[in-house]
Amino acid sequence: MPNQPGRVSAVTTFYVTTPIYYVTAPPSIGNAYTTVAADVLARWHRQRGEDVLFLTGTDEHGQKVLEAAAEHGVSAQEWADRLVQQEWRPVLAVVDASNDDFIRTTESRHTKRVQEFWQDVYDAGDVYEGIYEGPYCIACEEFKLPGELIDGEGGAKLCPIHERPVEILSETNYFFALSKYADRLLALYESEPTFVQPESARNEVISFVKQGLQDLSISRSSFDWGVPVPWDDKHVFYVWIDALLNYITAAGYGTDPDTFARVWPADVHLVGKDILRFHAVIWPAMLMAAGVEVPRRVFAHGWLQVGGQKMSKSKATAIHPSEIVDHFGSDAYRYYFMKTIGFGSDGSFSWEHLSAIYASDLANGLGNLASRVTAMVGRYFDGVLPEPGEAGTAEQALAEALARTVAVANEAIDRVAIHEAVTAVTDFVGAVNGYLADEEPWQVAKDTSATGRRRLGTILYAAAESLRAIAVLHAAVMPRTAASLWDSLGAEGAGLGSLVDQRIADAARWGVLSAGAVLTKGAALFPRLDDAS
Ligand code: MSP
Repeated sequence: MPNQPGRVSAVTTFYVTTPIYYVTAPPSIGNAYTTVAADVLARWHRQRGEDVLFLTGTDEHGQKVLEAAAEHGVSAQEWADRLVQQEWRPVLAVVDASNDDFIRTTESRHTKRVQEFWQDVYDAGDVYEGIYEGPYCIACEEFKLPGELIDGEGGAKLCPIHERPVEILSETNYFFALSKYADRLLALYESEPTFVQPESARNEVISFVKQGLQDLSISRSSFDWGVPVPWDDKHVFYVWIDALLNYITAAGYGTDPDTFARVWPADVHLVGKDILRFHAVIWPAMLMAAGVEVPRRVFAHGWLQVGGQKMSKSKATAIHPSEIVDHFGSDAYRYYFMKTIGFGSDGSFSWEHLSAIYASDLANGLGNLASRVTAMVGRYFDGVLPEPGEAGTAEQALAEALARTVAVANEAIDRVAIHEAVTAVTDFVGAVNGYLADEEPWQVAKDTSATGRRRLGTILYAAAESLRAIAVLHAAVMPRTAASLWDSLGAEGAGLGSLVDQRIADAARWGVLSAGAVLTKGAALFPRLDDAS
């Protein structure tokens, strides 16, 4: 009973979703990009002490999946099972996704709710039968407007996203009265300026809706791979209006009112810009029709290219995440995509760029800092963190830089500006490296007087304390590296508990790691990589 006085949960919830992925082909770094971004948000919010639900899954119905199954000579269900088991679940482990749930649209927890939801909308009078004829792109699973198409060879009309020929479909279908929601949608974009983000996506959606909306065909009768329409068994639901409902069916809609009241509306749906309209126009209109609250935010990220080219299976430019992770590790993979591409802008992947970032930010930046500090504590203090002497201006500046870093990163995460949050932490790593370069502890070590020893202890304490905060702040993006760093700082032994229990707010505090912690140098966080492999 979430609204009962005195029983309101004090814990903030945070519900983040990825799109559910088509089981047509193996995952690419493009799909994994959305997953990693959602994972970083989920981990960061958990570290704020929030109750997080991170959902991902697979979209298994529709013509495109049916065609992929037919090409491989198996049933659609067998094909979906195979791809989920061999590809879509395993890739989550490859990129270290910490999703709390994985929904498949063929599960009955979903299909039953899809039928109930649309029956309600049908009963309320927002669904009618009609004829639709128009160009259809199977890759998008979407009817196109004639004006959107681009010209191909021999006068063929092509989908602007997939650059493949569209088909003319003509069917008697059920329609959802989307057009009547245009004004309510515009009012939503107006009253909730961050409902669609970034700003460019918001503007695109507003001008699209201002042109007027067409009603949406929501059923198909030419094939049967879909959720059956409950009031007409010759039809199955159109894949998109089945798929979008995953966000509420996994949250307990229609089955678990307490959970649903706690987690819904979702805090953010992360989507690629190609599927923005489905999420920012059709989805809220569907929810309005059923009297369900709309999500808080839809954030459209950009499109990843490889070497300046669109990724394409036919041109063999699609890269599987494992190809990168096997060589660079999952943390470097996550760091690279989250730091170097402005979240919301397009980005281009190249092996050269990845190698350069690995060397500069990770091996020479963070890795080198950690190994120098742990080695010096080993060499000068037998691995036991000394008690710091009085903090000088340099140490105060470092502590202030840390507090600023946490404030900047936290605020960036609230805007889903993930790259800004990661960059803030990297800048702090740079500040700590700069601090060591200025204070030259290796020179101070030559002064063996009590004053010299005290100053050396102060510097190494400040550096180790900074690393403690860096481990906490990088844990969302590089969970493995952060855990190794935590180990090598002896933080758990010094009474701080495990890394996952550390809060973002703790990162901003100074003086948390206690003197006496036992530091060990351990293996390099980012070993030099052999270029040949
Ligand atoms: N099944 C639909 C989503 C339904 S959500 C209710 C779908 N699936 S998809 O597998 O084609 O794409 C899933 C996500 O991967 C989308 O957010 C899409 O933008 C993203 N990407 C696929 N290729 C991409 C790039 N090359 N770059 C960045 N993201 C891209 O659409």
